[in-house]
Amino acid sequence: MQAGKVPRHVAIIMDGNGRWARRRNLPREAGHRAGGEALRRTVEACRDLGIEILTVYAFSTENWKRPRAEVRALMNLIVEYVRKERQALIDNNVRVIAIGDIRGLPEATRREIEGVVEATRANTGPILCLALNYGGRREIVEAARSLARKALRGEISPDDIDEETFARELMTHDLPDPDLLIRPSGEMRVSNFLLWQMAYTELWFTPVLWPDFGPEELRQAVESYQARDRRYGGVHPEET
Ligand code: FPP
Repeated sequence: MQAGKVPRHVAIIMDGNGRWARRRNLPREAGHRAGGEALRRTVEACRDLGIEILTVYAFSTENWKRPRAEVRALMNLIVEYVRKERQALIDNNVRVIAIGDIRGLPEATRREIEGVVEATRANTGPILCLALNYGGRREIVEAARSLARKALRGEISPDDIDEETFARELMTHDLPDPDLLIRPSGEMRVSNFLLWQMAYTELWFTPVLWPDFGPEELRQAVESYQARDRRYGGVHPEET
């Protein structure tokens, strides 16, 4: 890895599980299971590279449209993953947080997520942020609603609302914006993920399907990131 700034916050859309399974004549659930393995590898690889925050899109507000059996399998898999990984996450000082409508998840999944969030609350190492029942538009609408309520109660004036106050209402209020978004499986869209937060995020796409993703792909993504010129809409001082 060439010297250069490592992204502080990496976000990943874990896509391609279904296609990975189909190519092997396996049920889609097998793809999601292999996707869980890829997540485990990637959490470790992030730690090795010094990435502070990894946010993964595990279930979107739109994923409820999938067949009931697949949704159920995914929810069970999340429970299984958390149970299996819980001790390793604690031992590795990882803090797990969750964004999305966690209360809308099935009881067992909700409990498991809340449990690992609580068990790792005091950890000071890397952050693993699980986006579950998450949708970027819904998050923005909720933030607007919360600010409107505060204004109605007279706690704020509408004129006080700016980008900073708005961002504080988002579920990511404690996190810096992602520096790098990775989307495997050849799809090149954002799919309602972290819409507000990705205003200046660098995007990296790969045809590799998520279950095949690992340290090598992460290294390629980070190297590509390090070669980018982030100007945030401005110009470099030497160009002025
Ligand atoms: C998208 O692939 C993937 C998902 C909707 C689920 C991601 C979930 C996991 C990797 C399980 C592990 C997660 C946690 C938090 C333990 P797809 O099914 O849309 O793939 P396709 O586009 O090839 O059909």
